[in-house]
Amino acid sequence: MRFTTQQIHAGVEPDPVTGAILTPIYQSTTYVQESIDNYLGKGYSYSRSGNPTVRALEKKLTILEGGAECRAFSTGMAATTATMLALLNGGEHAIVSDVAYGGTYRLATMILPRFGVEFTFADTANPDAVRESVRDNTRLIFTETPANPTLKLTDIAAISEIAREHGIPHAVDNTFLTPYYQRPLELGADMSIHSTTKYFDGHNATVGGAVISATAELDEKIRFVQNTTGSIMSPQVAWLTMQGCKTLSVRMDAQCANAMAIAEFLQGHPKVERVCYPGLASFEQHELAKRQASGFGAMIWFEVEGGTPAGKKLMDSVKLWSLAENLGSVESLVTHPVTMTHADVAIEERRRVGITDGLVRLSVGLEAVEDLIEDLEQGLAKV
Ligand SMILES: Cc1ncc(COP(=O)(O)O)c(C=O)c1O
Repeated sequence: MRFTTQQIHAGVEPDPVTGAILTPIYQSTTYVQESIDNYLGKGYSYSRSGNPTVRALEKKLTILEGGAECRAFSTGMAATTATMLALLNGGEHAIVSDVAYGGTYRLATMILPRFGVEFTFADTANPDAVRESVRDNTRLIFTETPANPTLKLTDIAAISEIAREHGIPHAVDNTFLTPYYQRPLELGADMSIHSTTKYFDGHNATVGGAVISATAELDEKIRFVQNTTGSIMSPQVAWLTMQGCKTLSVRMDAQCANAMAIAEFLQGHPKVERVCYPGLASFEQHELAKRQASGFGAMIWFEVEGGTPAGKKLMDSVKLWSLAENLGSVESLVTHPVTMTHADVAIEERRRVGITDGLVRLSVGLEAVEDLIEDLEQGLAKV
């Protein structure tokens, strides 16, 4: 079946007891066993180890990504943390994209090094830089593409090839495009990681995460860490996320069309110095964006003439765009990464990878594009 059918039906059966078309929220800690000999006869023991509502979402995400298995997590960061804990030991090394979500950077600079894990932040847009960063003790390559917030792209197939040559798993944070637009496992990656908080939910209602593995062996490592550390998704969050999944393609296509129109508007505006959107021909990696994904997403960044004060004035002046963290929701959001999502990234590192002080990040939502543009226009007029 096609993606748009699967996003509605995959993983979901009518409830066997009542026929309810939506998987119920199984709000229960434990599951009564029929007998000791038939322990786990119905598949469940305790909700930290598995819950039927969460399982339905995991089955849906497995099918949407084309993986072997999925584990749903309490947040996107819990999914990233479990991946690193599952694959890395003290004395081992991982390569991470030099532009990545601020929380991933924080995990790799402030937590895991305390346990003796070493990291190299490599320019994963450049396969040679990745190849040169591989060491004898490298056990994970973790890329994020498009990267938050600069939208730098990593060639998933090229990096997966390097990973395969060295027998190292390649995990891709696929949050910005989802499997609707970008299919890391088909491009050779071993794991696809998500903050389901973003496009899968899409309504600013939940925080959640997921790891979809290409093999049962990798999934077993993730499952073990999750069950031990307890970073599970709750049944209510799984239920809401499942409802969000059903409209994923429709929302993403409309948000992507809005983003294209807004990027073109910004590109033509005299007060805007630089606009970055993978759908623009001026985007440095536009060819890779076209080759690797079937859509350009709905994230844009730009810089206003007059630098940081001008950018701040704009962000304080817009009314329809909410000044908020998060992305991927039907509500359009504007974010200042330097004070918000990437505040913990060292200033020299931010400058080196292009997260400038004046960078304004847009997450384009589903409102009428004319209203979104008019609001930006009035904000820019105040700059
Ligand atoms: C690309 C990316 N990955 C992971 C995360 C972390 O997700 P969560 O906020 O659900 O923990 C985010 C959050 O913004 C993100 O943008």
